[in-house]
Amino acid sequence: MCGIIGYVGDKQASDVIIAGLKLLEYRGYDSAGIAVSNKGKIKVAKKEGRIVNLENHLKEEPLLGNLAIGHTRWATHGKPNDANAHPFIGNKRKYAVVHNGIIENYLEIKEELMSEGVKFSSKTDSEVIVHLLEYLDNGDPIATILKAVKKLKGAFALGIIHAETPNTIFAAKRDNPLIVGCAGGEGYICSDINSLPQSLKKVIVLDNKQFAVVKKNSVELYNFLGKPLDKNYVELSPEEWGDLKGYECYMDKEICEIPDALTRAIKNYRENKSFEKIDKDYLKSLRRINIVGCGTALHAGLYGEKLIKKYLPDIDVYSEMASEFRYNPVKVDEKTLTITISQSGETADTLVCQKMVSELGGKTLTICNVPTSSMVYYADYNLQLCAGKEVAVASTKAYNTQDLVFAMFIFDLALLRGSISQAEYDNLMKEIDALPKKAQEAIDVRGEIEAFSNKNFRKKSVFYLGRGIDYCVAMEGSLKLKEISYIHCEAYAAGELKHGTLALIEKDVIAIALLTDYDMVDKMYSSLAEVRTRGASIMVITPFADEMKLKEISDYLIEIPKVHKDLSAVVSVIPTQLISYYIARAKGCDIDKPRNLAKSVTVE
Ligand code: F6R
Repeated sequence: MCGIIGYVGDKQASDVIIAGLKLLEYRGYDSAGIAVSNKGKIKVAKKEGRIVNLENHLKEEPLLGNLAIGHTRWATHGKPNDANAHPFIGNKRKYAVVHNGIIENYLEIKEELMSEGVKFSSKTDSEVIVHLLEYLDNGDPIATILKAVKKLKGAFALGIIHAETPNTIFAAKRDNPLIVGCAGGEGYICSDINSLPQSLKKVIVLDNKQFAVVKKNSVELYNFLGKPLDKNYVELSPEEWGDLKGYECYMDKEICEIPDALTRAIKNYRENKSFEKIDKDYLKSLRRINIVGCGTALHAGLYGEKLIKKYLPDIDVYSEMASEFRYNPVKVDEKTLTITISQSGETADTLVCQKMVSELGGKTLTICNVPTSSMVYYADYNLQLCAGKEVAVASTKAYNTQDLVFAMFIFDLALLRGSISQAEYDNLMKEIDALPKKAQEAIDVRGEIEAFSNKNFRKKSVFYLGRGIDYCVAMEGSLKLKEISYIHCEAYAAGELKHGTLALIEKDVIAIALLTDYDMVDKMYSSLAEVRTRGASIMVITPFADEMKLKEISDYLIEIPKVHKDLSAVVSVIPTQLISYYIARAKGCDIDKPRNLAKSVTVE
């Protein structure tokens, strides 16, 4: 987790760092800090809480200078407070360091350094890095840093400044994202390509075990053995995402962007010939698919699993949350494909699984929103989501595109393997083409959802119910409500309620049922009748709003457009996204930055 940034140029570095940290705040917001180097001296300021606390502090006590590194933290080792905030500065004040990642052998190194008399001021793993640098220092910062990184076990993206080396930022990467670049007399390092100014035009995405020396007008790239490397540049996309464009918050904006995101995803999948790029003989030989992801991405994976069971009956499918997948015996052979799903492409739990599968000799495909991410880099194949940048911590438009792109892949695979006919395939494609418009229609019922939310935001407990694909969407709706509004919420397969959970249903509870498969109307009615009898209020989200039974059983009926039942998740999830948004808004929650969470979870 955490975001790091560094700047060298002619501007006041603290202004640039604060602006950059604001764009990185989605990566964590437990504390923020800055180290500025000026005339051979490094000064540090750090503050617990949001970037604005640091910004206000700097207004009172400015740190002047043209070279700085900054950090926004999501706490792992050590409480979120000033002492544990980055940057860390050595006791000789020669080096300052910002770190994203986890140093696994920090206790070992700490003990060793403490026995040499080194004093520590925090409870973090990261602090060992700066003391190690000063301990190993031989006057040559490059040689010192290269020596230090070899001693560190675990994952890191590091930004380092050295008091005696003016106008220079050092950057080193193993397993955590790090981007560097320079243009127009300004040099940058950063955790996220989209937090860099467009003026850079092109940047270098560091590979593992790479080290960069960034100045105003140059970037040098080395491996960890100190060998100079050629630089591969990536163009910065013209995507603008620091602007709310009049929306109240990013979550609102990103929900409204779903139709455009779907249109882009469909267009890119077809024009980029994403499926054609995968080895056909291998796809025909497949016998097993593993699906791995976390949170919202996992829910998209569970939806894909249902489609694979239906459209690819001769393929065994196994989906698992990434944090568990790696601890189970994994079947990987030449007839197995492991699919990772991720918005960021940097989620450590998922990335570790993808690497594990590759190390076992298995092939991997990633369905991902960030083309420059580690998952895309390391996967054998990738399918891009093209959802556009997601800033709100709660994932919305990425989920809709994950479902869509996964479905398109499954339909292509089914056609290739002959488990669906060309006519069936063409019909599914027509249904896919209609999705952006139907998504817009689902967004257009937001007024009813707002009214429902304003009435019910004080509820203590909510249950999402569904069967089949609707159950997958129920899981996603439930996660979103918990995450943004802090209301206890569970998702249940409707038929499973009576096997225990029904005991929790009582008067003040709300049950929200998803019902997009007409064949399930009677069965769902029975489940809802059980809930009703126990006094809960009921909302039904369905295209079958005219059904008498549903009118009779529900207190709130949200009509969504009719979509092919196997594609329903792409659209039916929208009211659930809006429910969490409006309930959180009515409760006065910080919608884009829910407590205890961060957008990109780059620790296991
Ligand atoms: C929920 C949410 C998280 C992420 C999860 C995986 O709204 O955003 O559950 O889906 O942390 O993140 P990615 O997709 O970046 O791998």
